[in-house]
Amino acid sequence: MTTQRTQVAIVGAGPAGLILAHLLDSYGIESIVVDDRTRGEIETTIRAGILEHSTVDLLANHVAGSRVLTTGERHNGVNLRFAQENHRIDFAALTGRAVWLYPQHEVLKDLIAARLDAGQDLRFSTRGVRAQSNGTGAWVLCEDADGREFQIDADFVVGADGSRSAVREAITGSHTSGFFKEYPFAWFGVLCEAPPSSHELIYSNSDDGFALISRRSETVQRMYFQCDPEDDTSAYSEEQLWDILQRRVPGTELQRGHIFQRDVLRFRSFVASSMHKERLAIVGDAAHTVPPTGAKGMNLAVADVVILAKALRALLREGDARLIDGFEDAV
Ligand code: PHB
Repeated sequence: MTTQRTQVAIVGAGPAGLILAHLLDSYGIESIVVDDRTRGEIETTIRAGILEHSTVDLLANHVAGSRVLTTGERHNGVNLRFAQENHRIDFAALTGRAVWLYPQHEVLKDLIAARLDAGQDLRFSTRGVRAQSNGTGAWVLCEDADGREFQIDADFVVGADGSRSAVREAITGSHTSGFFKEYPFAWFGVLCEAPPSSHELIYSNSDDGFALISRRSETVQRMYFQCDPEDDTSAYSEEQLWDILQRRVPGTELQRGHIFQRDVLRFRSFVASSMHKERLAIVGDAAHTVPPTGAKGMNLAVADVVILAKALRALLREGDARLIDGFEDAV
């Protein structure tokens, strides 16, 4: 078995893990990032789409080559529609800030390219991760794409490995320790090849139930309607799906097109009982999973790593543990 050393081992090459690696690099701290998925899987899975102001600032100013400002779309507001009326909430006028539509997989392409271009260590298809702290350091044990075991010895290990985190148990003592709630409703999500039906998002309540008209690009649109968590995605024809969506968004004619992906998103909330122990921490979905309703997940993950990166800088460069000791209270 091979063993390598680094300052920070990061499990998970999602937005949280990769942004953390970039921030640490800007502080002169070396890291190794591992992920059990292939680069292709990470870069093509369509997930969240809305970035908040602080996330955009961070990407534009700290991640070399981020295309968020050139290819992302600034959205100054959203539409809330209920009781046959549309209410536009003007974020820009009310707060001076906006949100950006820039799909998560585009964020990930930028982050991966910037990391690999800079010659930094990022390993895909790494399976069977286990992590442990020994008080003054921590290690990650895993298998590479060919099934060979290797160990990374680090000063600190971060689990940015999503809601099924393999690092969480080493911190909380059990995979499920925390607060969990499952809701009795879900969202039926579709991705379709069609022009946008609306420039800004529409959150619509109707007699038939809720629907959200979102988007991903000029040619791909994302839409959701409220459904039963047990709904079967194959039970509907494309025409039936369009009819359901259209009935729930009165006042806007939806631009129809081929629906190429459908999924039922169950609504779950989870907050881990702890995010930090000795030389281990978890961030993002590994520490707290939220339902997709508020488009918060990725933005919360980014907020975690901004705080953690500063705490690790103080710990590893100045030997000052105060920020990491206060990490859970700060996030
Ligand atoms: C999405 O585009 O996936 C999306 C947008 C806004 C939300 C939730 C999801 O509030």
